[in-house]
Amino acid sequence: MRPEFDEISGKQTTGHEWNGIRELNTPMPKAFRLWLWASIAVAAFMWVLYPSFPLVTGALQGVLGYSARQNVLAAVADGIATREASFAALNEVPLDEFARDPSFRANHEEAFSVLFRDNCSACHGRDAGGQVGFPDLTDGHWLWSGTAEEIEYTLQVGINADHDETRFAQMPAFGRDEWLSQSELSDVAEYVLSLSGQDHDADAAQIGAVVFEDNCASCHNDAGVGGYENGAPSLADDAWIYGSSRAAIMYTLEHGRAGGMPAWSDRLTETEIKQITLYLLWQGQTDG
Ligand code: HEC
Ligand code: HEC
Repeated sequence: MRPEFDEISGKQTTGHEWNGIRELNTPMPKAFRLWLWASIAVAAFMWVLYPSFPLVTGALQGVLGYSARQNVLAAVADGIATREASFAALNEVPLDEFARDPSFRANHEEAFSVLFRDNCSACHGRDAGGQVGFPDLTDGHWLWSGTAEEIEYTLQVGINADHDETRFAQMPAFGRDEWLSQSELSDVAEYVLSLSGQDHDADAAQIGAVVFEDNCASCHNDAGVGGYENGAPSLADDAWIYGSSRAAIMYTLEHGRAGGMPAWSDRLTETEIKQITLYLLWQGQTDG
């Protein structure tokens, strides 16, 4: 087909016509074309330098070896290292000294509470106040003692956890395993109620005291005050893991209990564990 020319401007047309209007065949401005080619060249260059096309099992890596993911991981590792370094003193000075230092507390309690909330509050509650099955960590009543060393150790090894040194706590299922009869169970439950000064049947409790002596005192101690060797709680105070009611106590006696607390030594750094320990020590203090 021969090129057509517009009569008025004398320029070549594209040969297209819409409702009598013909389109001039005006080329793109040169600067624009150059810009277009330049961008294509830059894009091709970038594809070579940086990760670009997806492949079946990954993507082209680019000759610079750049990885946004690695950069983020490195930045996070850097941040952790900086933080560890700035708290190196925690590993050298006994924690109690920091626990008693009001200005250290004022400066760091908020930050340490974030560690607690991120890792622990799902079970122990936002303010460490506990909930049924998960002990209150602020009330001064401890299963494994509340010294800085023991709390730190509990965090490292967990309780009934997947860790070689884990603390082991097992309340036997006296009912289900038929170690005690139903009447012995209800008598000893009355005795347990009496230990914490709750309403109870005094005659049954008197019989229950003997049952307790024979079956429970080995772990919960003579007066039911517990001990720190086996995680058996005191039954003579108002701190309860599973509830103070007769029904809750009977359930424990029937089915046993073995609360599980994860070991944190693989998930938190030593310094982080110390920081959370300090946070807990502070929650047990009424003021600085
Ligand atoms: C999956 C739930 C769970 C998580 C998460 C958890 N805990 Fe626990 N924790 C428990 C349970 C359950 C017990 C009580 C175990 C028992 O009954 O013997 C416990 C016990 C403890 C004890 C011992 C209390 C005592 O009286 O001696 C401490 C201290 C403790 N947790 C701190 C923490 C801290 C700090 C974190 C976060 C780093 C945490 N826990 C995260 C479930 C959890
Ligand atoms: C082998 C040691 C052991 C013996 C024996 C034992 N207990 Fe326990 N008991 C425990 C441990 C450990 C716990 C805490 C379990 C947990 O936290 O998951 C516990 C928990 C309890 C609780 C729940 C306390 C709470 O705060 O909710 C009651 C009630 C109780 N025991 C009563 C008894 C009575 C009554 C007997 C005797 C019939 C008895 N126990 C015998 C170890 C023992």
